[in-house]
Amino acid sequence: MSASSVRAGQPLRESRLPLPLLRRGKVREVYEVDEAHLLLVASDRVSAFDIVMREPIPRKGAVLTQVSAFWFERLKSTVASHFVTARAEEIVARVPGLASHRDQLAGRAMLVRRTTPVAFECVVRGYLSGSAWAEYRRAGTLAGEPLAAGLRESDRLDPPLFSPATKAESGHDENVTVERMASVVGAELTARLRDLSFAVYSAGRDHAASRGIIIADTKFEFGTAADGSLLLIDEVMTPDSSRFWPADGYASGRSQPSFDKQPLRDYLAGLRTEGTWNGEAPPPALPADVVDATSQRYLEAYRLLTGRALEDAA
Ligand SMILES: Nc1ncnc2c1ncn2[C@@H]1O[C@H](COP(=O)(O)OP(=O)(O)OP(=O)(O)O)[C@@H](O)[C@H]1O
Ligand SMILES: [Mg+2]
Repeated sequence: MSASSVRAGQPLRESRLPLPLLRRGKVREVYEVDEAHLLLVASDRVSAFDIVMREPIPRKGAVLTQVSAFWFERLKSTVASHFVTARAEEIVARVPGLASHRDQLAGRAMLVRRTTPVAFECVVRGYLSGSAWAEYRRAGTLAGEPLAAGLRESDRLDPPLFSPATKAESGHDENVTVERMASVVGAELTARLRDLSFAVYSAGRDHAASRGIIIADTKFEFGTAADGSLLLIDEVMTPDSSRFWPADGYASGRSQPSFDKQPLRDYLAGLRTEGTWNGEAPPPALPADVVDATSQRYLEAYRLLTGRALEDAA
């Protein structure tokens, strides 16, 4: 596939740009632009149960990038961030070598300030779910520290919890105590990151709630730029870095459907029940209606959160 043969709006499984590739994650590629800038490109890959599917989900990459762009803009008085631009025209104006690759950038690429990332993920939990619920149910704790007794699955946590995690190169990130994080990066930076994480999450949670989406928990990353400033980096309050639940139908005491991935999860769970897929790589082929339903969910998340259609943004 020659890069220029990709048409704008076409699903993209993997970007290929004429820049040094620093990293290919489950979903995104990170390219080096220069000493001070990176280009983050969200492909249309989707993962479920930690397995990356073969079929791209149309528009998913653009939704992820434009949701992050929406939050960076909206929250800029709350937190300084790495965001420079997520408009393909501006990116090409700054990086002329990408001119013939516009179609791969459209909506999905974000030019950012390069930083040295803090070695901990700053997770904020506003509802009890996922690995936190699993540990609480087993031991009554989160990262070894006791929580209030009598909590139920998906209960709202008020105030939210700051729950750092180490970044595992492969496999699952590990929840750690705030003390552990403080012993590595210092108590002062830990407190600063906790306060910033709470401020960003509360603003996000309130806005999303008013639009029918519960952001149950989310993961932030921070980094230090060359001039020493502390910036919010990576992606922010997207469906991939957070649990999005439909507010409609929320009830504690059980797990909640995922706003974005439920059609995919239901399909895969069905295959496992039938015994036609064992839950491991290679992934099964996805029928077109599952791909389409998942794409629609991402577009709907974008529309609800931002109040406009994706087509009007990028
Ligand atoms: N401004 C920045 N400066 C330096 N590194 C950054 C910046 N923004 C994001 N990053 C890094 O880019 C990387 C993105 O890769 P990552 O592996 O998370 O991709 P992904 O597709 O989200 O994969 P996964 O789903 O496994 O998280 C992260 O390691 C993150 O720390
Ligand atoms: Mg990531």
